[in-house]
Amino acid sequence: MLILGIETSCDETAAAVIYGEKGVPSVRSNVIASQIKIHEKTGGVVPEVAAREHVIKIIPVIAQALHDANIELKNIDAIAATYGPGLISSLVTGGVTASTLSAVLNKPLIPVNHIEGHIYSNFIGNSPKFPVMILTVSGGHNDLILMKDHFKYEVIGETIDDAAGEAFDKGARILGLSYPGGPAIQKAAEGGNPHAYNLPRGLMGARAKSRAKTREKAGKALDAGEFDFSFSGLKTALLRLIEKGVPKESLKDVAASFQEASCDALSERLIQAVQKYKVHEVHLAGGVSANKHLREMVRQKMQDAGIDLPLRYPENISLCTDNAAMIGTAGYFQYLKNPGKFRKNQKIECTPNAFFS
Ligand code: KG4
Ligand code: ZN
Repeated sequence: MLILGIETSCDETAAAVIYGEKGVPSVRSNVIASQIKIHEKTGGVVPEVAAREHVIKIIPVIAQALHDANIELKNIDAIAATYGPGLISSLVTGGVTASTLSAVLNKPLIPVNHIEGHIYSNFIGNSPKFPVMILTVSGGHNDLILMKDHFKYEVIGETIDDAAGEAFDKGARILGLSYPGGPAIQKAAEGGNPHAYNLPRGLMGARAKSRAKTREKAGKALDAGEFDFSFSGLKTALLRLIEKGVPKESLKDVAASFQEASCDALSERLIQAVQKYKVHEVHLAGGVSANKHLREMVRQKMQDAGIDLPLRYPENISLCTDNAAMIGTAGYFQYLKNPGKFRKNQKIECTPNAFFS
């Protein structure tokens, strides 16, 4: 079957055509109109500006995706679009467009959770063996998820303040680098000494354990807290360091140390979780999974800990950051699970704080 995926949760207007056969999805086209150049000027996303851009770009982007896939709109079997989480004024453009197409074409409409989309980016061209331990890490979310089967998740860790991508974005702003911060810091860190500055890792070791105990006493789940993240201390430490004054030639060491601290915090928790839960695969997903240092660090830590499991992340950077191929893929698997559930003429209820279960 052919699925048109649509994604407009933040600042990328994206459409993709996914072809699914016998449970295996493949990408026929994947078009992304990035707003980075626009948001660079403000150092971050201005929701009103993003919303306007989505309205301008959504139809040309869908037309391009169909053209690249060499198909006509009438050949599409279903439409999948992000319903949340994200910026409500951005989400509605994709939601309304998808609902309209579904009504006009008389085709099923599949609402997809954005984070679930990121998770399914590792299912393109792969058939992972469950259970899988997934680190989903982006600008807006930072979770450790134990995925037991298709659409069966247990969130075992989350951030108590900023997501790592947000920390990269704020860190880049402190360092006077461009938006988005992740790729800018990765570039600035090239050739820098990652151990030059000892920046905080947040909630590591004893602090995490004591937080887990407090949560346990409060009647929360046993593991709550043990795998949580915190990045606000890292951001503050960077700010203090820069305020004290760092010579210009040491900026690459600061960027490398910041990247090291973030990746260390992420990978350490991931490895602990993999050691605790019996899983068959380890996945990285979301914008920050594009980070080369993170990928290498996780690989190295798995090796050091004697963890001989497949490590997957989207090889193609455009599948790490926001895209519609992941939305079409998640939509495909949802449809396979329950084809009768998705009717034509539905509408997408956009939800800014949506979470999946
Ligand atoms: O998944 P995504 O495109 O959007 C959200 O769902 O939030 O992730 C965007 C985030 C941004 O914070 C960006 O700085 C970060 O991913 N990012 C990176 C890299 N590429 C993008 N962070 C670290 N290293 C990268 N190479
Ligand atoms: Zn995302």
